[in-house]
Amino acid sequence: MNYQSAIEVSGLVVERGRRRVLHGIDCSIPVGSVTGLLGPSGSGKTTLIRAVVGVQIVKAGTVTVLGQPAGSAALRRTVGYVTQAPSVYADLSVRENARYFASLYGLGATEADQAIADVGLASAARQLVGNLSGGQRSRASLACAMVASPEVLVLDEPTVGQDPVLRADLWAKFHEMAARGTTLLVSSHVMDEAGRCDRLLLIRDGEMIADDTPAGVRAAASTEDLDEAFLRLIREREEVAA
Ligand SMILES: Nc1ncnc2c1ncn2[C@@H]1O[C@H](COP(=O)(O)OP(=O)(O)O)[C@@H](O)[C@H]1O
Ligand SMILES: [Mg+2]
Repeated sequence: MNYQSAIEVSGLVVERGRRRVLHGIDCSIPVGSVTGLLGPSGSGKTTLIRAVVGVQIVKAGTVTVLGQPAGSAALRRTVGYVTQAPSVYADLSVRENARYFASLYGLGATEADQAIADVGLASAARQLVGNLSGGQRSRASLACAMVASPEVLVLDEPTVGQDPVLRADLWAKFHEMAARGTTLLVSSHVMDEAGRCDRLLLIRDGEMIADDTPAGVRAAASTEDLDEAFLRLIREREEVAA
């Protein structure tokens, strides 16, 4: 099957707690790219991600992943998801966690150890997850999702709490995976990570402000500074609406 878009979102409306939190989102995420989902806290990043992985009840619109409706059984082994809160077992070591997730996919210690090394946790492999720092725990979570080499990997704020060197290493890793054909959707509320993405989705108050390359966003807002560009695009939108 041939698809240029790994993920297609069209007219997505989501209500949570009787409030509308996504107001008709359209976006498209190409295969083999690192797409950043950028927006402030509460803008709807996690909600959009939940819709992409098929765990969010939607009011209207469609979400298609690799040509299938989001959440289809066919996608279970091809879509990896790392939640914002680390989802690893505190009473197991990093290695035991990774081996456990590997075993679910019929994989073994080699793949588990590779994933641990990929997230820079090799030296902490024997430690209990419960004894790790927040940043380490979140990388342990990432390792468990990477073990199975999913075609689509959705990461909710994976670089929050990481030191700058580790953040740079993780982004380099994401690009390596994308170069091998993996599609990555990575959320962040830190605008200075925007420049590290192949494509950007800028979301605010449940509305998509931009779906473009960083160069395209800079050109549309006539500024080199992506932070400033985001601000200008929001202001332009508000002027149009007023
Ligand atoms: N379980 C929930 N019940 C009600 N409202 C929620 C729930 N989860 C999130 N929200 C609201 O939905 C909006 C978007 O939240 P979220 O998608 O978590 O944003 P982000 O991930 O960008 O911080 C926020 O206004 C938040 O308060
Ligand atoms: Mg969130």
